[in-house]
Amino acid sequence: MTAILSIGTADFCLNLRLPALGMPEILGLGRPVDISEPLFDIERASRVNGMDVAVPSSVLLPTGGMGYFGWPAIAGHRMGRDFVAQFGQWRVTREGRTTRLTGLDIVAGLEITIALTEHASGILGMATSLTNLGEDAYCLDRCMAATFPAPAGCAYASSFTGMWGREFQMRREALDNGLWSQENRRGRTSHDRPPMLVLEGSHRRLAVTLGWSGGHQMVIDRTDDGQRLVHLGELFEPGEMIITAGESYHSPVAYAGPDTEAFHAFARGELMDWPGGRMTPRPVTLNTWEGNYFDHEMGSLKAQATAAASLGIERFVLDDGWFGKRDDDTTSLGDWDIDRRKYPEGLKPLVGHVTALGMQFGIWFEPEMVNRNSELYKAHPDWALTIKGRPILESRTQLVLDLTRPEVSDYLFGKIDAVLSEHAVSYIKWDMNRDLTHAGGHDGRAKVAAQTRAVYALMDRVRAAHPAVEIESCASGGGRIDYGVLKRTHRVWTSDCTDAFERLEIQHGASTFIPPEILGSHVAASPNHQTGRRLTLAFRALVALAYHFGVELNPLELSDEDRDELTVYIEAYKRLREVLHAPGANFRLPPVDGRYVWGAARQDKIVIIVAQGPQMVGEQPAPLRLPESVTKLGGHWRIRTVLPAEPQFIRISEGQKALLSGSVSFTLSNTAIAGLPLPMLTAESALLLELEPIKEGKTHG
Ligand code: GLA
Repeated sequence: MTAILSIGTADFCLNLRLPALGMPEILGLGRPVDISEPLFDIERASRVNGMDVAVPSSVLLPTGGMGYFGWPAIAGHRMGRDFVAQFGQWRVTREGRTTRLTGLDIVAGLEITIALTEHASGILGMATSLTNLGEDAYCLDRCMAATFPAPAGCAYASSFTGMWGREFQMRREALDNGLWSQENRRGRTSHDRPPMLVLEGSHRRLAVTLGWSGGHQMVIDRTDDGQRLVHLGELFEPGEMIITAGESYHSPVAYAGPDTEAFHAFARGELMDWPGGRMTPRPVTLNTWEGNYFDHEMGSLKAQATAAASLGIERFVLDDGWFGKRDDDTTSLGDWDIDRRKYPEGLKPLVGHVTALGMQFGIWFEPEMVNRNSELYKAHPDWALTIKGRPILESRTQLVLDLTRPEVSDYLFGKIDAVLSEHAVSYIKWDMNRDLTHAGGHDGRAKVAAQTRAVYALMDRVRAAHPAVEIESCASGGGRIDYGVLKRTHRVWTSDCTDAFERLEIQHGASTFIPPEILGSHVAASPNHQTGRRLTLAFRALVALAYHFGVELNPLELSDEDRDELTVYIEAYKRLREVLHAPGANFRLPPVDGRYVWGAARQDKIVIIVAQGPQMVGEQPAPLRLPESVTKLGGHWRIRTVLPAEPQFIRISEGQKALLSGSVSFTLSNTAIAGLPLPMLTAESALLLELEPIKEGKTHG
């Protein structure tokens, strides 16, 4: 019988057939097929275009040539020879949840292993390894990590575009006959094209992502028989990936799943690696950046910490400005020694003060970077990635260090390790503030792939030495948010834009793949530092509240009124985070007419946040229909708390007043059909509703 494999869970399973020669044929995605059926003995591809042999077009990682005319997912050569790869003699091995398919090409002297991992959350992981069995070096032009079957026919691809301060703007495009392709050449995950894609057909939805922080390529190809494949993998610069005899290339892992819920479950339960084995309640954070910038004054920082603690803040993160002579962003990256002008007795007095207040202490590093104006650069100008004879392109007046050189990584590890070993640091904000423009080594060869691996290795080394420390991934805001970095970090700085109005769309987009508790979201000052927009404290706080909540302003500058109000929201966050961040509890609705709705639901509590961004076009909002994940909880409920106490409604009826005051109960099954008739909010205002269940049959009002 033909070798058929079904890999995945009962609902989301990749069915494959292993041929004698050629790549594993994709039979379909969905439930496992019944392999005993003679149906699967029939050849599925037909002979077309005058070919006397049938060449299946829907296969994993198609290689070019030999009658395959689609986009090859693997391509390479030995100085122009062996440009065709054709694998066969498949062997299957299983280890835990991972199935490995190993194929051999004796002509080209290559061995491939495709590792498919079925995760309990319903996510399928796929990664490729290619080994050079020949005597000469093999130049790998391309080797995708994975191929998944994408919806055929009339279908749409949603990807993300954006820029600094405006990440995760979703774009939906219709797919047609041609090739859809996204390539990221920035050497970091990027603000404008993270490796995440949602594909929707008339019958099926598929979400895919590449766990990788370097260059990448995502391609959707329509095959000869009208099906579609989506390929995800690393992007190499010319000649970048040369495998010498006996060496292997190991791709990053690509993931596929049916929906956001499965991806959140996977990130929470399987991908992320928490100190102590599990996530602790996400502490309210004070980040010093927007409140101080480079102006670190010990007395003020201590007073800010005291004020923060009295607001209920639990983690104090000292941002950029504590090292070298870092009075602005033109100097000192690389000089990771405490600035004795600002901290004559070192950081210990501040760390001691913060921890004595019962808060955790966190600190900012940007390890991969160097300013030309630094002691490090003066001593080692050759440590920066540059290409001989080419202009040095600065970005934020900084260059990238060549972390693939052991002496560079050792130096950085030593500096980070010293700060962490000498102080009670429980958190690192790991920043990375520029693209890689000419990531070349001294041998003149491209290095993005090696640099990305070296960054991961340095993170892993820091984590191994300080396993209790959490790490936040930041890259000029949300420039490094992906499932590769999330494997070794615990929070991402979603965006440098702290304007709550802009954050609505950014956070909605980012939470397609990233659980809300991982996305940093801060209450910042008004007017906002990036946009100048003035927003109420209630709006700023409610937009941040369901995520990893924090504050980014100087607490000493708060008015008494704002301080009291902020305390209310910090208390609300602490009371509700258990529900908001409970696995499987969070939900979000597609925004309609500038109205964003998100929250979380459990048997004992439902939290709904409604935020109106711009003024509505419609005369009134539609009644709020909660998603099935919420309404399926069933039973009678009523509204228990409303925040702010006096929401900014344009108009409110007596009935709506009664609903909001909790004197009207309702069944979730009715709201599924008829919705909750909420009043219309003014532009730039928000509302939090806390719902509580009431005993069956007992109604109020
Ligand atoms: C980047 C980060 C900010 C802040 C600054 C410090 O822009 O995204 O949050 O840390 O660097 O220079």
